[in-house]
Amino acid sequence: MKQYDVIALGELNVDLILNQIEGEPEIGKEKFAKQMTLTLGSSTAIFAANAAALGTKVAFCGMIGNDSFGQLVESSLEAKKVDTRLLIHTDKFATGATICMSYGEDRANLTYPGAMEEMSLDDIDPAIFKETKHVHISSIFMQSGVRKDLKKILELCKENGVTTSLDTQWDPAETWQLDYKEVLPLVDVFLPNEKELKYLTHSETLDEAIEKIMPYINAAVIKQGSKGSLLLKKDGTCTHVKPFLNEHVVDAIGAGDSFNSGFVSKFVEGASLEESQRYGNMTGAVNTTAAGGTGAFTSREAVEAKGHELGW
Ligand SMILES: Nc1ncnc2c1ncn2[C@@H]1O[C@H](COP(=O)(O)OP(=O)(O)O)[C@@H](O)[C@H]1O
Ligand SMILES: [Mg+2]
Repeated sequence: MKQYDVIALGELNVDLILNQIEGEPEIGKEKFAKQMTLTLGSSTAIFAANAAALGTKVAFCGMIGNDSFGQLVESSLEAKKVDTRLLIHTDKFATGATICMSYGEDRANLTYPGAMEEMSLDDIDPAIFKETKHVHISSIFMQSGVRKDLKKILELCKENGVTTSLDTQWDPAETWQLDYKEVLPLVDVFLPNEKELKYLTHSETLDEAIEKIMPYINAAVIKQGSKGSLLLKKDGTCTHVKPFLNEHVVDAIGAGDSFNSGFVSKFVEGASLEESQRYGNMTGAVNTTAAGGTGAFTSREAVEAKGHELGW
């Protein structure tokens, strides 16, 4: 018996969200925001929290500083029923933070990555790979330490019979330096969105991107926002699943992470790729029915009831 279903290996930070800002930031001036929220940020944390809400036993492996933002991250994960025993605390770096300046639907973000950028395989106890069925790795372009060791981490998973999923997320540097030909054969399920896949493979079209990754994947699911998702399999098949379209989107913050949480939760239960894709489509859709990345994820029953309303 393994202790965990899933270890989420990724970035942790806090979001300081400023709303109702009077004007835009200008050097040498000071302005007011009329509303502020300090909360757990990071897309891997949304993934972990929502998978835990679906009943999956999730532990988080990420690095935080020994500071008050780190305490906020840890207590917020605990409140979401995510196991925090694998968190790594450091004195060398501060916990990362993003200042999000909200202007209606748009946001200007400024991130200090701090500890999350620094964690590498050297900081991780290799024994943890014996304690889980699955490892989900996300946001590799925000974690230069993890990206450098990605191949070794995936090999360690393989050696221990642990399945893996990878969501690259956006590359803030927009250089997309990841050797997908080397990495994808070691990943059980690759979970990019359409735009990220095109950038990663330097492709003009989605068809071209699919053709490029096909020889290297075990399986991939490409997230396509309100168009649903595509499942690619090693045998060369490509299956589109329509979205459970939500006509009244509150916001799409964390839709992709919520898709991942549904997909991976089903996958570790032993469901087929097709069933997992359909469940991910449902949890991605449910995500858009409430504010923020975790608002709709109170329990598995509540998520599935909402999913049924959307036609799941
Ligand atoms: N308006 C919507 N209605 C229903 N499902 C949606 C909607 N927007 C997103 N989804 C679901 O969420 C998934 C992930 O969203 P997407 O925006 O592609 O990911 P990311 O956040 O990584 O960019 C989609 O594949 C889809 O299944
Ligand atoms: Mg995403």
